Amino acid sequence: MTLNIQQISPVLGAIATGADLASGITDETFEGLHQAWLEHDGVLVVRGQALSHEQHIEFSRRFGDLDHHVVTQFVPEKYPELYRVSNKPGEGGKYLGNPQAGNHWHTDNSYLDPPAKASLLYAAEVPPVGGDTLFASMYRAYETLSPALRKVLDRLEAEHHFENALSNFSTFKATDRQIDATPPVRHPMVTVHPDTGRKSLYVNPGFTTRIVGMNADESEAILRFLFSHATQPQFIYQHRWQAHDLVIWDNRCTMHYAVQNFYGVGTRDLYRTTVKGDAKAA
Ligand code: OGA
Ligand code: MN
Repeated sequence: MTLNIQQISPVLGAIATGADLASGITDETFEGLHQAWLEHDGVLVVRGQALSHEQHIEFSRRFGDLDHHVVTQFVPEKYPELYRVSNKPGEGGKYLGNPQAGNHWHTDNSYLDPPAKASLLYAAEVPPVGGDTLFASMYRAYETLSPALRKVLDRLEAEHHFENALSNFSTFKATDRQIDATPPVRHPMVTVHPDTGRKSLYVNPGFTTRIVGMNADESEAILRFLFSHATQPQFIYQHRWQAHDLVIWDNRCTMHYAVQNFYGVGTRDLYRTTVKGDAKAA
């Protein structure tokens, strides 16, 4: 099988065919996939993969060490590396996964230090229509700001807090243990990608609470501007899922948004692994 990579939108993303992840891939094929992922600004769709949980986890490990999600009620028993995103009802009518995962623009785990490097979301079952995921290029967001504003942002840090997304976008409440495990952290507002050397804007509406050193009005106005700037339609790829898609995204240079329009339409059942980021150089 020969690996084939096709661009899927003018701004970011590619689709790979000719790789069968379930039967194991060579280092050379992995290198081809990894390179395509970097070159297409951090979104790669690998279609038609029938993956067991073990195969999904094993392939994900090629990107680095995997995180165990803090929201443990959606972590499947026996698979601490997985996080289930699902509107499938289980016993007692409780959802088997988080049906509201990512119903706002965000970057996975920006509330951790170091924040996540990559996420690999696998679709076991998808509705006939609806439940698309939007991806925005944060390279593009940064590159389209004026040199004057880039210069200011280059020197600033912002605070990120897990609890922010829950209080603003979710009907689930965090437990005391989850809140205690995720104190606010600070990251530069502009980060340099370790593999591509390109700069990205690194703030997101889900978890970014404020710009360090600014008063509340300044911080809110600038963040509001940056969020609307970054999410303009021309900076976005909209992924329409097919069952057995594996979508790999780079949390260091993208944001994503799960469109919540599938209730009553069909079952949406996905599993995610999250690859830990590299620790900052001391
Ligand atoms: C996630 C997430 C998006 C989706 O799992 O990190 O944001 O479309 N999900 O389900
Ligand atoms: Mn997410």
